[in-house]
Amino acid sequence: MAVAKTAVKKPATKATTGTGKAATKPAPAKTTAARKAPARKAAPAAAPLPQVEPIDAATLLKADHRAVDAMFEAFDDARGKSEKSDLVARICTALKIHTMIEEEVFYPALRGKIDDSIIDEAYVEHDGAKVLVNDLSTGSPADAMYDAKVKVLAEEIRHHVKEEERWLTGMFAKARSAGVDMIDLGTKMAARKAQLEADAAAAPLPVAKPTAVKLVTA
Ligand SMILES: [Fe+2]
Repeated sequence: MAVAKTAVKKPATKATTGTGKAATKPAPAKTTAARKAPARKAAPAAAPLPQVEPIDAATLLKADHRAVDAMFEAFDDARGKSEKSDLVARICTALKIHTMIEEEVFYPALRGKIDDSIIDEAYVEHDGAKVLVNDLSTGSPADAMYDAKVKVLAEEIRHHVKEEERWLTGMFAKARSAGVDMIDLGTKMAARKAQLEADAAAAPLPVAKPTAVKLVTA
């Protein structure tokens, strides 16, 4: 997720005259667009992140992976509609939070440190999963192909997890060998995760927005 840049006010430019005196440069005339532009509202201050214990990024993300996988396995054994619906709600919330903390904190910190292709692929895999997460979040076990969507989502996530966790060549291994501060990133992600979990407990999380893939509708 892009972080809004703070606008930096530049000091007024002064020109020097032949006498050595500084002459104030006349201000440029305002353009029509500048005159008509409405005053921008200041963005609301972001809520402070909760304090959390330091944790390694791979430890945190792997624990998330195991937790989601256990829910997918539970779905395979679930028979009742309410049990399926409850599991899917938990899976979707967990995946929304997981993709957000990775995309807000982890992936941007890896840019320039590991191969871009690894990071790009991860974003596209997330976007594929988000399509099913959003669909399932508003669906019901009575819907056609509901179980198939959960099964395909599980397959997509398991593939993605392998790419991140693969020994020596996976994203986590590459990040660690590139000298990325995994404790710093893990702790930042844990704080953001705690904040998002509190949000999710209060109200359903918003739709997961694709980052790289353009959604084309007929
Ligand atoms: Fe991921």
